[in-house]
Amino acid sequence: MENIDWGSLGFGYLKTDYNVRCYYRDGKWSEPELSTDENISLHMAATCLHYGQEAFEGLKAYRGKAGDIRLFRVDENAKRLISSGEYLQMAVPSVELFTEVVKKVVKANERFVPPYGTGASLYIRPLLIGTGAQVGVKPAKEYLFLVFVTPVGPYYKEGFRPIKVIIDRDHDRAAPLGTGHIKAGGNYGASMTSGEIGHEKGYPSVLYLDAREKKYIDECGAANFFAIRDGAYITPQSHSVLPSITNKSLRQIAADMGLKVEQRHVEVTELPTFEEAGACGTAAVISPIGSIYDPDSGQTYIYGDGQTAGPWCTKLYEHLRGIQYGEIADPYGWVTVL
Ligand SMILES: Cc1ncc(COP(=O)(O)O)c(C=O)c1O
Repeated sequence: MENIDWGSLGFGYLKTDYNVRCYYRDGKWSEPELSTDENISLHMAATCLHYGQEAFEGLKAYRGKAGDIRLFRVDENAKRLISSGEYLQMAVPSVELFTEVVKKVVKANERFVPPYGTGASLYIRPLLIGTGAQVGVKPAKEYLFLVFVTPVGPYYKEGFRPIKVIIDRDHDRAAPLGTGHIKAGGNYGASMTSGEIGHEKGYPSVLYLDAREKKYIDECGAANFFAIRDGAYITPQSHSVLPSITNKSLRQIAADMGLKVEQRHVEVTELPTFEEAGACGTAAVISPIGSIYDPDSGQTYIYGDGQTAGPWCTKLYEHLRGIQYGEIADPYGWVTVL
């Protein structure tokens, strides 16, 4: 691909050639259509604009070592979009339709899949919105399922180096029995103030606690939290945590590497006892956590030397990345080669 400095790409929007759209009308989905238009035309009373009938996904296509194009666990993203859409009372695409559309949009934009070895990848953004007009609070009768792509570099510009995290007890991204478990746009709106305050204080990521008691760890920014202690991979179990596909994959890899996997309530008081901590998600795979500042106690918990990724974070990261890029065998059948 001409004129793109893949290595220095950030995590932003870069125009590609096509997006793919399916319309839900009269109780059924239309055939996927390629579009070159970056804009969508919406009725001003569309439910996505007023009542939050909006859910999305995020996954990546990687250029493998052999030059192949590899999708990571696309069926899991399909299932999660279905779960999000159903909770928001939207019409949802089937796993098959989701997969077909994702494959179609990646193929159509093949020249934007970054070359192997650049550290860049093609980010895929499926979007499901209520487009039908409603003035009362009720589900729309029409929906748009659209998928666009954009090439991205590593999420954290510093690369695989530990990040600083701050605990936020002043904001919740999701209510205890609310929408934290789905990928609804509203959750991200609810996290903006907290995230911006964190950034202003010099912390790229905020640690959210359970909204009811502020006793347990929920999530770390737009990523799941995990920690390592005494040969165990420990990660929060909570209704308000988004079920991360990266975390699910890391739990499997950790177990196969001989770590005990604990998915349970994780107390804030355990923070000083961890050997390593990390945030995980599609964007960065793992962001090792160097330190966590607790404004309540004034204490900072430091992991390792706070500057270098710990051995388990490194091992898990390299293994998962290796599977994604085709450097390591994929015994789990996670990768779909286009
Ligand atoms: C709130 C939140 N938690 C966790 C994740 C990580 O999920 P995944 O590993 O499926 O990307 C994401 C990002 O996708 C997210 O937005």
